[in-house]
Amino acid sequence: MLILGIESTCDETGAGIVRDGRRILANVVSSSAKLHQKYQGVVPEIAAREQVRVIVPVLNEALRQAQSKLNEIDAIAVAYGPGFVGSLLVGVETAKTLALVWKKPLTCVNHLIGHVYANWLTVNREPKTVNLPQFPIVALIVSGGHTDLILMKDHGKYGWLGGTRDDAAGEVFDKVARVLGLGYPGGDEIERAAQQLTADNLPSDAKALAGSQLTFNFPRPMIGDNTFDFSFSGLKTSVVNYVSQVSDVCGQVPAIAVKFQDAIVDVLVKKTLRAAETYSAKSVVVGGGVAANEYLRDQFSVINSQLGIPVFFPSKGLATDNGAMIAAAAFYLKKRVDSLKLQADPGLNFNDI
Ligand code: KG4
Ligand code: ZN
Repeated sequence: MLILGIESTCDETGAGIVRDGRRILANVVSSSAKLHQKYQGVVPEIAAREQVRVIVPVLNEALRQAQSKLNEIDAIAVAYGPGFVGSLLVGVETAKTLALVWKKPLTCVNHLIGHVYANWLTVNREPKTVNLPQFPIVALIVSGGHTDLILMKDHGKYGWLGGTRDDAAGEVFDKVARVLGLGYPGGDEIERAAQQLTADNLPSDAKALAGSQLTFNFPRPMIGDNTFDFSFSGLKTSVVNYVSQVSDVCGQVPAIAVKFQDAIVDVLVKKTLRAAETYSAKSVVVGGGVAANEYLRDQFSVINSQLGIPVFFPSKGLATDNGAMIAAAAFYLKKRVDSLKLQADPGLNFNDI
């Protein structure tokens, strides 16, 4: 079954064509991140206007790459929330129009669940040879707007275990990057700054500098409590306070980046480990933009070594927003909707699968 997935919830415009929920034939993403750089955060109006401009070229390019003809596409899928209303409208109205004009079934996908299903996708590999996550699954979603832990008993059978009570993980990466004078989006920039002190092949003088600078720690909020909730605003405030006290902020950026990453990843790993243990998970899957972080990917191996279960990450390009993950989720969830009735839902909740 060939599904065309459309994603436009935030500042990306994506169209992916996926066979049987696994095999990517095309996955085209256009990001307006550069346009938001000077504001250090997404400006919804700018994002939506850019999406109106690029949605047709993005779709066209996806169809060209997949070498698919319209009559080969079996269904259209679209992320209908959560997200910015203007952005969502572009994808949802485009999907409805295509479904009506091409006479194809339309399915709607919760964007957050799309991030989880990025773990079912394979790129240019024979899907049958690749292991899939096994149920019950504990899924961690870490994106710019969300941090959630979910228990998946089967496709479509989910329970929300907990989530952030204040800032999302990606949002804190972005805010800390701003305080450190790094660019937007901040996750990538923090990772690069930290690697200046932690890369395996550092020259000896850089190693000595690292040893002398990495002598402090930031707090790990809620790491030991018995909920599956998170709170990151205190960690953010700690970084801000630390930065306001040091005289040479520029010289300390890599050290602050290392210690901030340490703290936030430690909390994410420990809570996910405890959820996987509590619910006897057979697999852990991680999704969302923050899942692109190398240090986080590395640290999650502790779950594998302690519980003996596999931890799945999407390939880096599939961790951030894209259309293929929406097509994959649509294949497994099959939530068909009336093309005349579907509405974008900016505040879509986790339980609205
Ligand atoms: O999932 P996503 O593409 O969009 C949302 O649904 O929000 O996630 C974007 C978030 C941003 O906050 C960005 O800073 C973060 O993912 N991110 C990263 C990395 N790459 C992107 N965070 C940490 N390390 C990265 N390498
Ligand atoms: Zn996302």
